[in-house]
Amino acid sequence: MTTHYELLVKQFAALTADETDLLAISANFVALLFAEIPDINWLGIYVRRESGLVLGPFQGLPACVHIPLGQGVCGTAASEMQTQRVDNVHEFSGHIACDANSRSELVVPLIADDEVFAVLDIDSPLDCRFSADDQVGVELLCDRFVQKLLATKDDLRSFI
Ligand code: SME
Repeated sequence: MTTHYELLVKQFAALTADETDLLAISANFVALLFAEIPDINWLGIYVRRESGLVLGPFQGLPACVHIPLGQGVCGTAASEMQTQRVDNVHEFSGHIACDANSRSELVVPLIADDEVFAVLDIDSPLDCRFSADDQVGVELLCDRFVQKLLATKDDLRSFI
């Protein structure tokens, strides 16, 4: 099944059009994507704190709360400032298993002023769930999400 990311971009814009509360925008961003992207079992934001990454708004089973920078798929995306698209999490050295059902994972760093202020993490129970097209689509959504946050607040460090 193909996800229509351009349509999701429009839905996100409509859903948050008059909203300026960054927590509410983030919560609905996560809920919209979890509802509309098929074959996933977890989707959420980890936010950057001085100590590393901390669990933020998400949908799915309760997850690990603290992830050090450079560790796991999320910590690697944050420290390398690069999207991590992992076909089989069991082959990713240092993968942090929160939901035993997760098989593949896509993590996009959220960047403003050349700093990672959060990451978006999506898990799937299927091997090789995320294609290069999915990566482009999710990165587009993340870009619009960051733009929306920046329209409300200049400095996104500790934005929620
Ligand atoms: N698997 C992630 C940890 C977060 S959970 O999947 C929700 C990682 O390796 O960073």
